[in-house]
Amino acid sequence: MVIHVYETQEQLDRAGAVLIAGQLLQKPESVLGLATGSSPLGIYRELESMSSDGIISFKLASTFNLDEYIGLPEGHIESYRSFMDRNLFSHVDINMANTHFPDITAEDLDEASRDYDKQIEEAGGIDLQLLGIGTNGHIGFNEPADEFVDETHRVKLADETIMANSRFFDNIEDVPREAVSMGIGSITKAKRIILIASGDAKADAIAAMVKGEVTPRLPASILQQHANVVVLLDQTAAAKL
Ligand code: F6R
Repeated sequence: MVIHVYETQEQLDRAGAVLIAGQLLQKPESVLGLATGSSPLGIYRELESMSSDGIISFKLASTFNLDEYIGLPEGHIESYRSFMDRNLFSHVDINMANTHFPDITAEDLDEASRDYDKQIEEAGGIDLQLLGIGTNGHIGFNEPADEFVDETHRVKLADETIMANSRFFDNIEDVPREAVSMGIGSITKAKRIILIASGDAKADAIAAMVKGEVTPRLPASILQQHANVVVLLDQTAAAKL
């Protein structure tokens, strides 16, 4: 695990964008695993600017997002598909047909989840996975649990996740209680992983991820066993390292 600690959010955002841009320059047809939430917003803005400056192109790339809420009406502004359209896809030259999300409209969600892992595999596997981290150490929506679940699967969101994500909704009752998320295996099969975190609310989770035991009680701790992880932090998220 390589860890970089930055003084400003802008430095962190640019570092993340540089890594993703480098991936696209080296392999234009890269398969990118993408995250939503607040953490990647600055990176997406930087990528947008590199793309509009003609430095990078998403034309041949494909993307698989980590997760999608269950229960929001199609096109809801807080669905992760809408989030990605708004914050990245509509600003770059990506072929929308190559952007993928777990299918939460399928009648058989288990089958659709298995199919998501199959699609990733058929695309050649994820070259670079971008991750945020929950205050409880979740990655994707793999919440603390008794065991790691490897495959993409239906999840119940932890109370702290519902609380944290309520900032995007008018009131907490509107936050979906369930989602479909890539599993720990789907994530760790990625060839390279970048995890980003800012703010003191993430400091405990980051310390446990880096220095704690590997346990499904702190899902991100599994990244200790991955051979190619870069962690980008601001000083407050790194405070307990
Ligand atoms: C988002 C995701 C989550 C977030 C995490 C941190 O697709 O899978 O694991 O990365 O909840 O969220 P923020 O960045 O909003 O603090």
